[in-house]
Amino acid sequence: MTSSSRGNWGSKFGFILAASGSAVGLGNIWRFPYAAGENGGALFVLIYLVSILLIGLPILIAETALGRFSGKNPVGAIKAIKPKGPWKLLGYLGVLTGIMILSYYAMIAGWTVGYFFKAVTGKLKNITSANAENLYNSFTGDTLLQIALLTFFLLITIYVVSRGVSNGIERFAKVLMPGLLIILVILLVRSLTLPGAEKGLEFYLKPDFTKLNIKVIISAMGQAFFSLSLGMGCMITYGSYLRKKEHLPSATAWVVLFDTSIAIMAGLIIFPALLSQGMDPAAGEGIMFNVLPVLFAKIPGGMIFGPLFFLLLCIAALTSTVSLLEVATSYGIDEKKWSRKKSALIMGAVTLLVGIPSVLSYSEVAFFKKLPLLGISFFALMDKMWSELSLSIGALFLAIFVGYVWKTSNALKEITWEGAQKFRFAAIWSISVMFLGPILIIAILGMFVYNLFF
Ligand code: PFF
Repeated sequence: MTSSSRGNWGSKFGFILAASGSAVGLGNIWRFPYAAGENGGALFVLIYLVSILLIGLPILIAETALGRFSGKNPVGAIKAIKPKGPWKLLGYLGVLTGIMILSYYAMIAGWTVGYFFKAVTGKLKNITSANAENLYNSFTGDTLLQIALLTFFLLITIYVVSRGVSNGIERFAKVLMPGLLIILVILLVRSLTLPGAEKGLEFYLKPDFTKLNIKVIISAMGQAFFSLSLGMGCMITYGSYLRKKEHLPSATAWVVLFDTSIAIMAGLIIFPALLSQGMDPAAGEGIMFNVLPVLFAKIPGGMIFGPLFFLLLCIAALTSTVSLLEVATSYGIDEKKWSRKKSALIMGAVTLLVGIPSVLSYSEVAFFKKLPLLGISFFALMDKMWSELSLSIGALFLAIFVGYVWKTSNALKEITWEGAQKFRFAAIWSISVMFLGPILIIAILGMFVYNLFF
């Protein structure tokens, strides 16, 4: 298959928007603030930023370069360099991880659609904390509604993906991403001008080093991978549509800049808003759905900002679900020779089936709510296995693959277009991909396993 029939981004800007669209998602706006809230605020933010710079950006460059060099999906990209042996399993792991993460990510995305409609139709008006919790429980416990919302979100995702790279993904990202930025800025101004916003700023921006521990470090680094869509070949796939003439390091640096700024902005919206209302920033993953509606009911203009906020989440989630499905879809196109439409539909249908047990985690079915022996829900198990474990393992082996199998000297030829373009940080990049990245990830994984058993 020629590279033009696979598709290409129309421009470097198109790649930046689509890749930022993938990176910016529920991870930034929902997961980042609650993880920061639970892990001491500013200290978490600081470690997150260091991880992004030291390992996130270098691995992002490595993945994108591997994709552009091969012009393939994760499996094809690895086979292009090492056709024989077990390395291609890493590509399969990426495709599988994409489907698995998408299966529950799309469920949460479905919740944002549900809450958007609740907000628009006034169902969140004058809501109190107790009401909000009941509403959340009955909403997430309504299995049929949840399956309908999951299906709905997957159908939109399939639609965008099946329209193709520049006509679908890039075109939608070009409209959705600026829309997202505008809504964020409006909410930021609203939140920062609330009386008492300074308390939130202090919690969010002033690190308290006495809170430093392993758990904070692990969650901050894990968040860095998840947020940048690293470790499952998503950026290999997006890199495969990037034209050779585009300057790869600067394109990826823009993606990191967007992703990080939006996560930081999300925190700047949520913490001042929460603390100005005397609410607990460490309220956990429920913050968004349990606490924010109460906040919107209290603050002036909340009836406008509430729907806006949930709309923002739907948009952010869509550009990420599209990228998750694109990985599996491109695998079907390249390796199985399916048409784009057929591939997107098949992979989407599989995802829906895999997603149903996650939906049942919130139903009355005791088995999925609390798995025997493990004691956690099916959804929680999926999130741990795929978002935390599989992405870290994937990122580790991708760094090793690029550093030692493909070799950084070859990767650098691709990155600089055979030396025609400058890459000022080539030496630091090589050190990070070959040594720093793998060592740090092995340390995180070691601690993860340690935490699991002790
Ligand atoms: N980066 C996305 C977010 O922060 O919400 C989630 C994600 C998308 C993870 C794509 C991995 C991926 F390949």
